Order: sequence, then C-alpha cells, then structure tokens
Amino acid sequence: MDNAPDIQIFPVFDQSAPGVWYDFASIRTESAVVKYPSLATQESIAGYLEDCESSWKKKSFNFAYAAYHDDKMVGFIQGDVVDRVGYIRDLFVLPEYQKMRIGHNLLTNAETAAAMGARDLDLVSLVYAEPFYKAHGYTTLYGSNRLGKPTSQHGLSYATLPIFKCTPKVIQACEYIAKQNGVKFDKTLVSKLHRPMFIYAGHNQRIDGYIVQDDVVSKPVISKDYPMQDWVAKRLQTAFDAYIMHTATQQAKVR
Ligand SMILES: CC(C)(COP(=O)(O)OP(=O)(O)OC[C@H]1O[C@@H](n2cnc3c(N)ncnc32)[C@H](O)[C@@H]1OP(=O)(O)O)[C@@H](O)C(=O)NCCC(=O)NCCS
Repeated sequence: MDNAPDIQIFPVFDQSAPGVWYDFASIRTESAVVKYPSLATQESIAGYLEDCESSWKKKSFNFAYAAYHDDKMVGFIQGDVVDRVGYIRDLFVLPEYQKMRIGHNLLTNAETAAAMGARDLDLVSLVYAEPFYKAHGYTTLYGSNRLGKPTSQHGLSYATLPIFKCTPKVIQACEYIAKQNGVKFDKTLVSKLHRPMFIYAGHNQRIDGYIVQDDVVSKPVISKDYPMQDWVAKRLQTAFDAYIMHTATQQAKVR
C-alpha cells in the first residue's frame, strides 16, 4: 500500500503496566463492535479486563505484542504457553488499520515467541477471522472454530528475540555466557519483574548473547565462543534501545 502509515511492532513485556489492558480492551471493542456487538457491551469489557489480569497472574509464560502508529496502539496479540501448547488468546487490529499486514506481522511474531516453549499452536477463532487463520496454515480441530497448527522453528535462528519467559534452555545458555564474562545472570528480572530481555539466536538456535534491563547498567553480554561479538552486541543494543525509547514515550503518554 503506497500511503501505509509507519507501523512499529514491539513486545509487551509487562502487561500489568498502566494503560496496557485498557488499550487492549479499547482496540478489541472498536474492532469488534460492527461484526461482534456482544464483545462491545460493558459486561464483556469488564469481564475481558478481569480475564487479562487473572491470566497474567496465573500463567507463567505470557506473551504479547502491540502495533503502534507513532505512540498510538493500533493492534495487539496476546497469548500464553501451557504444557507446550501456545494459545493465541486475542488478535485485534483497529478497523482503519486492517488489511495492512499488521495482523499478519503480529501473528508471526507471536508464533515465534510461543515456539520458544510450545510444540503446537491453538486458538479459538471468531467466525470472520477463520479464513485469515487458515491462510496462515491453521486447520480446524474437532470440526469446530478451534484451530491449530504445529509450531515452526523458522524465525528462531539468526534473530534478535524478546524473552517473555526464561525457559531452562535460555537460563542455561545465559548463565554460561554470564560466567564467561564474569557477571551473574538473574532470571528473576524476567520471571518476577517482567523486565525487557532480548537474546540473539544464531546458527541452529544457539544463544550467542543477551541483554536484560537490570538496576545498574543494561549492556549486552556476549558469548566468548562467538567470533562476531561486536556485531551481536550491536544487534542486541539496537533492539533494546528501540524498546526503551518506545516505553519512555508510552509512559509520558500515560502520565
Ligand atoms: C483478523 C484481523 C486480526 C486481521 O488483521 P489485518 O491486519 O487486517 O490482516 P492482514 O492485513 O495482516 O491480512 C493478511 C492477509 O489476510 C487477509 N485477511 C485479513 N483479514 C481477513 C479476514 N477476516 N478474512 C479473510 N482474509 C483476511 C488479508 O486480505 C491478507 O491477505 P493477503 O496476504 O493475500 O494480502 C483483523 O481483521 C481484525 O482485527 N478483525 C476483527 C477482529 C477479529 O476477528 N479478530 C480475530 C479474533 S480471533
């Protein structure tokens, strides 16, 4: 599309940050109101906000991405991983931003995030979105509007990836890299505090470095086994700085 606005997609590490669920609920309501008016009632919105909070508290592997036009959230996807199944819970794009591949980009990002801990993907589709998911390789489960597909390993190599949950593989690799560099890796920064963290996954999904926001200085920690350390450090720092700059804008907006 020639005049498509400049849309940026960011991971949402801390869904409990002020305004996030409210933005999710507003987009869900606005994008649903015409075709699914039952989702736009006061009861449905209140129930949705409660569900977001309780899922966030109960599940240990939540993931979410949001699409922004400047500082305005215009679409989002959220889900979780339980027992190696990645559940896509919500995917909504504001009507005036639909058909610009934002839904596609949100879905592929979320599928990659889920693939770090899941073998299969599972979702319950609203009726009008079924062709969209089928075009993305999902098939009907049990002849219902429940759809699924196996996760793909595509996207897990040669990529800077956000970490929503420190899986045993991530912990083991980061502890090893931290030790090589004489620092300590603190997994609670992600698992308890939901701080932003990115890894660089190289050949065969091998973790070559990480960056996590800590209280002192957040800088990339790179494996000494990897020859192009500066290059990996730059990739991680760029992803991290872009995220931090974006959250600063969001916080200014909420205040
Ligand atoms: C479904 C939804 C998330 C898709 O987002 P989007 O940003 O409009 O989709 P994209 O632009 O990425 O579309 C990617 C492709 O899917 C197609 N597509 C999008 N929505 C479609 C739909 N409802 N039915 C069939 N195809 C669809 C697009 O035409 C595009 O095809 P192309 O690659 O051949 O050009 C969005 O339309 C939406 O929010 N709908 C209302 C709420 C909803 O149904 N959400 C799903 C909840 S389970």
